Amino acid sequence: MTLEKKLTELEKKREEARLGGGQERIDTQHKKGKLTARERIELLVDPNSFEEFDMFVTHRSSEHGLDKQKFLGDGVVTGSAMINGRLAFIFSQDFTVFGGSLSEAHAEKICKIMDMAMKVGAPVVGINDSGGARIQEGVVSLGGYADIFLRNTMASGVVPQISLVMGPCAGGAVYSPAITDFILMTRQTSYMFVTGPNVVKTVTHEDITAEELGGADTHAEISGVASFACDSEAETISTARRLLDFLPQNNADEPQVADFSDSIERESEKLNSIIPDNTNEPYEMRDVIRETLDNRDFLEIQENYGPNIVIGFGRLAGRSTGIIANQPSALAGALDIAASLKAARFIRFCDAFNIQILTFVDVPGFMPGSAQEHGGIIKHGAKLLYAYCEATVPKVTLITRKAYGGAYDVMNSKHVRGDFNYAWPSAEIAVMGPKGAVEIIFKKEIAQSDDPGKALEIKTEEYRQRFANPYEAAERGYIDDVIEPKTTRARLIRAFSTLENKRDSNPPKKHGNIPL
Ligand code: HXC
Repeated sequence: MTLEKKLTELEKKREEARLGGGQERIDTQHKKGKLTARERIELLVDPNSFEEFDMFVTHRSSEHGLDKQKFLGDGVVTGSAMINGRLAFIFSQDFTVFGGSLSEAHAEKICKIMDMAMKVGAPVVGINDSGGARIQEGVVSLGGYADIFLRNTMASGVVPQISLVMGPCAGGAVYSPAITDFILMTRQTSYMFVTGPNVVKTVTHEDITAEELGGADTHAEISGVASFACDSEAETISTARRLLDFLPQNNADEPQVADFSDSIERESEKLNSIIPDNTNEPYEMRDVIRETLDNRDFLEIQENYGPNIVIGFGRLAGRSTGIIANQPSALAGALDIAASLKAARFIRFCDAFNIQILTFVDVPGFMPGSAQEHGGIIKHGAKLLYAYCEATVPKVTLITRKAYGGAYDVMNSKHVRGDFNYAWPSAEIAVMGPKGAVEIIFKKEIAQSDDPGKALEIKTEEYRQRFANPYEAAERGYIDDVIEPKTTRARLIRAFSTLENKRDSNPPKKHGNIPL
């Protein structure tokens, strides 16, 4: 055979592989409002940068007539590509081939790119759209899943792993995305659950749709499994691209320092008037965050889960920064279980990948109540404390208003290795709020007074004057400086620039025992 003929044969095979399960199934995929595995990759990567691996792989099973049904690629498209000019490894499950179900060969393809990503130190982006284990292959498929789970775990903290769930992802299959760093889901066309609505109905007699049980909003608002819920596949993919831009390639790399057009010295008059006169009145912490960041650009993560804490990425003088901020306009910014879990995992991600951490504090304390206590706020709040304590990246804190009780300690105080701790003049740093404190320490005096109401008021004001300010903490050096709000951006940039070459470490150990 001449080379020309051989090349024609090669192209024919490539064409066949590109068609996956065939035009009819591609049409069905489109009718569901979903893109194909390859169309998704095209949207995700820089033009013409995709280098495909294992296009000719097929399954090796002959059970249940499978030997007569072979599709080149076996239900997953894998390879490397550039995303925003940087290398990434990608797998994209092809629902048109056996419903994207995972066979031995399919799993091997995913493992191959994960091993390569670990070797060269580049992120892995997985696009999930699968009916789960390839039923005909039985336990071999389960083994394939476990091979992936192991790699997800080994890669955790070494290279960033991002999961896009754009179709079914059910049963044990959910545990691969669950171990990865961020999960992005598409509304209406994706779902994740350990057991689906039919099993739920049989076991608990509960009627629930797939979307309600494990759709994008469910996981973005209720369970906290998803980092983002997006309206379309295109939005899901563009969010993944934006997210990757804030991340380094691996744990030995530094995040890119991006060009920025904003002035380092930019002052914000808005910040000078953002704290209401009444200390119990809410304000929007996102405004403080945006006013501070380069070009006021903030990528919020888990926006609708645990809204009393805000997390996300932005840049300060071009440097990628992880932001954690109490949100006084939701539950007064109190720390509860959801907020603790959300922030703790994010802090650990930033620390694992050398991303500096900026904390804005306005916290009245931990959320009281039996629901919180019985739900384990002790161990979940401890996760947040632990995450801050063990983090060795540059850590800067700004207390805008309240920093009360244990929550003061937890929210990256000096005592847990905050490098620079600033406060605005409106800060109130104390064991508890003035009224609560006075009711305890002057209980008898107030009760015995002729006018207990008046006595409480006077004592509360005295306490406020003495303790509800930043100076008691500043006198001891717990606060490095009290700054004018409008200068916040410049001061924070200067602090992080001082910390650029920070080196800190924890004692050698196999691993700590974070209170799980
Ligand atoms: C083999 C599968 C498959 C599977 C779907 N297909 N799931 N083939 N193994 N797990 C095939 C179908 O036979 C069909 O082939 C094509 O994919 C499309 O499936 P449809 O059912 O027509 O699509 P749709 O109506 O959209 O429904 C999608 C679905 C449904 C909800 C995912 O297919 C389904 O329920 N599948 C089974 C899910 C399941 O129980 N999986 C095992 C779970 S246990 P044709 O040739 O007609 O195109 C598990 C454990 C993982 O996953 C453990 C990890 C530790």
